[in-house]
Amino acid sequence: MSLRLFDLTGKVAFVTGSARGLGFAMGRGLARCGATVVLNDIDEGRLAGAVKSVRDEGLKCDGVVFDVTDEAAVAEGIAEVNARHGSVDILLNNAGINIRYPLEDFPYDEWKKVLDVNLNAAFLVTRSVVKGMIARKAGKIVNTCSLTSSVTRPTIAAYTAAKGGIFMLTRSMCIEWAKHNIQANGIGPGFVATEMNTVLVQNPEFDNWVKTRTPAARWATPEDMVGAAIFLSSDASNYVNGHLIYVDGGFTAAM
Ligand SMILES: NC(=O)c1ccc[n+]([C@@H]2O[C@H](COP(=O)([O-])OP(=O)(O)OC[C@H]3O[C@@H](n4cnc5c(N)ncnc54)[C@H](O)[C@@H]3O)[C@@H](O)[C@H]2O)c1
Repeated sequence: MSLRLFDLTGKVAFVTGSARGLGFAMGRGLARCGATVVLNDIDEGRLAGAVKSVRDEGLKCDGVVFDVTDEAAVAEGIAEVNARHGSVDILLNNAGINIRYPLEDFPYDEWKKVLDVNLNAAFLVTRSVVKGMIARKAGKIVNTCSLTSSVTRPTIAAYTAAKGGIFMLTRSMCIEWAKHNIQANGIGPGFVATEMNTVLVQNPEFDNWVKTRTPAARWATPEDMVGAAIFLSSDASNYVNGHLIYVDGGFTAAM
């Protein structure tokens, strides 16, 4: 079978929050399919190591440090990517944080931080990138959503509000830009054993809950997200638009 539909040779992919975790795995996966991948993060040291490890595989990779919640920094950062690489053909809005409080005690400044990184940043970065996609009449936007785009647990109301929001933002991107041959879709990871979840992975009760609640009976790995990221970034998904693909080991199928 030909794999041409998944070939990303000649494409430039930009991935936010990708010095580690899901963003790094998905970015490296796109590079392995031929894309030039530009990784972004606020953690400069970690980003340099991530870029080096992708380059050490003989793949095309660059890094740009900026805070995706800072409007001016986003504009400058994307201008730098365009100057160095010509365009962004594939955008993965992936940067995310979680801060937990009971809803009735959620401090407003913490609430806003979560909304800024998980939702507002996706708007800012996409706004900076999409005009080039519109001009070229082609583009792929992949937003990292979550199980919490549709279900939730106590103490993560801000994260849930942001992840529900980014799913509906994905749909707005779809309906406004489909006419320009731009596809915007979401990936909804289940519980992934990343540094974001270290406390949860190390909590025997939570660890057991994830393994019994998830039909696959294990945590996801960042590598589990790569296939969906490639699909949604490639010609294989040219008529898939406004969708959220759960990559959750069956979690959303089970009661
Ligand atoms: N881990 C999971 O179980 C899980 C599940 C569903 C969705 N997600 C989502 O996947 C994405 C990645 O999660 P992860 O587990 O890899 O997290 P992670 O904490 O391991 O990595 C997130 C990266 O984003 C960077 N970052 C944070 N704020 C930033 C900012 N303002 N500007 C630029 N970079 C910033 C961090 O420095 C870090 O390198 C997030 O959107 C998260 O909400 C994760």
